[in-house]
Amino acid sequence: MAKPSSLLDTRVIYCGDNLEQLKKLPDACIDLIYIDPPFNSNRNYEVFWGETKEKRSFDDRHESTQAYIEFMRPRCVELARVLKKTGSFYYHCDWHASHYVKVMLDQILGENNFQNEIVWKRTSAHNDPHRYGNIHDTILFYAQTKEGFTWNPQYTAYTKEYVDAEWQELPSGRFFKGENMLDPQNKMEEFDFKGTTARWRTNREGMMELWNAPQTEVPNSHGRVLLRKDGLPRKRCRIVFLDELPGVALQSWWGDISPLAGGSRERLGYPTQKPLPLLERIIKSSSNENDIVLDAFCGCGTALVAAQTLNRQWIGIDISPTACRVMAKRLRDVCRMKEDENYWLHGKGFVVRDLPWTEKQLRTIPPFEFENWAVIALGGIPNKTQVGDMGIDGRIYPIGSEPTAAGKEAGQLDFMDDWYPIQVKQMDKTGRPDIDKFEAAMMRTKRKKGFFVSFDFSSDALREIDQFFRREHIVIIPLTVREILDETIAQRLA
Ligand SMILES: C[S@@+](CC[C@H](N)C(=O)[O-])C[C@H]1O[C@@H](n2cnc3c(N)ncnc32)[C@H](O)[C@@H]1O
Repeated sequence: MAKPSSLLDTRVIYCGDNLEQLKKLPDACIDLIYIDPPFNSNRNYEVFWGETKEKRSFDDRHESTQAYIEFMRPRCVELARVLKKTGSFYYHCDWHASHYVKVMLDQILGENNFQNEIVWKRTSAHNDPHRYGNIHDTILFYAQTKEGFTWNPQYTAYTKEYVDAEWQELPSGRFFKGENMLDPQNKMEEFDFKGTTARWRTNREGMMELWNAPQTEVPNSHGRVLLRKDGLPRKRCRIVFLDELPGVALQSWWGDISPLAGGSRERLGYPTQKPLPLLERIIKSSSNENDIVLDAFCGCGTALVAAQTLNRQWIGIDISPTACRVMAKRLRDVCRMKEDENYWLHGKGFVVRDLPWTEKQLRTIPPFEFENWAVIALGGIPNKTQVGDMGIDGRIYPIGSEPTAAGKEAGQLDFMDDWYPIQVKQMDKTGRPDIDKFEAAMMRTKRKKGFFVSFDFSSDALREIDQFFRREHIVIIPLTVREILDETIAQRLA
């Protein structure tokens, strides 16, 4: 694939806050934007990545819908800036905030440019106590009607009920029916049928098809014409085969794309990973080959893989370094792309830019920045205050953490009861005394599992972690900076 624009680098994953990263892109350069930001669901996700039970999580950190919209508004303004006048914009969300998002997008992209609210049936029926089961996501689709935008109609299969009711099956398994050629728009015409002059009101194109078409397998027919017993064309005479029709034009209700099943090969363990067919459908509908697709919240890169497979150019942005590494691995594995600067310069392969730190840099940055880096890299949330942290620098919230009333009033993420502590030490070798302090903090806060990040651990420290587990049945997982930085974590994760 050639580079489509000298102004813009494509096949690039940018690691960082999209608000900052988007500023690097020129105005009106993107053909299709898809975003799937963390929902305003007041819930934090945790994933168990593979057998090692390595933790990845990311938080839906928006405490209220207003905060969520305030977070998203400047990002959507930037996205609108980089979108071409002929481009399309898809915003994937759910019932928590979809109505507020619609109002915000109407303001930014123009109410008249709203094209569809797509309902994607995300999950199967289940019991939501005292209300109807919530089973769908909402995808808001905008494109500038005035300028004209790329639109490639997509089709879905006919329902069995419709096929059974309207079509006849042949022994070969093909379905056919006779279609009326009568077209009130057209004048009466005469044509020769086996030496007899037949009068038939028909459409000229249809006529050509009737007489030029080879004989079909349909009984009692001539060419593409169904015949009466007396050998003349029947009223509904034109033979149509089901497999020659494109299908039903795609509607705004998408119930035919299943969520990723637990055992699916596609599944990477990322909690909000979307199925590839969903992204392929959007990309096929709203872009052409070599167009530029942008996903500014790209998670494990579903949109990038779909774009690459469909020969589009793409740009991905994600704030999580681990997500960036996981999607790089996915592009290498699934799309057989090389992650290589030289290759990329020659129009092949891809690159990941702005991954935060090297080990050397991490040794020299201020301790609080180091703590933030480590906690975020693990998918946790850093403690807001750096003093009086009582031996805990951050927290990981598992799926299903429910807010408590008291915490909610306090307006903090502390409102979740269920969390794992993270302790971070910017030390060459963490020793036993630091482990002792972390153990005390875990006992005090009644935690069953915690994470300790450092450049290395003394053998005393590791022995103590083991003994602590034997004594108290509390797990401390020691993680080195190298493990977090290295591909080894991404490999263990995927
Ligand atoms: C719901 S997930 C996207 C999942 C993705 N559609 C997929 O199929 O894998 C949202 C992603 O947004 C990222 N994110 C959150 N805030 C961000 C920000 N300010 N800038 C860039 N990425 C961000 C998170 O790290 C997370 O990976």
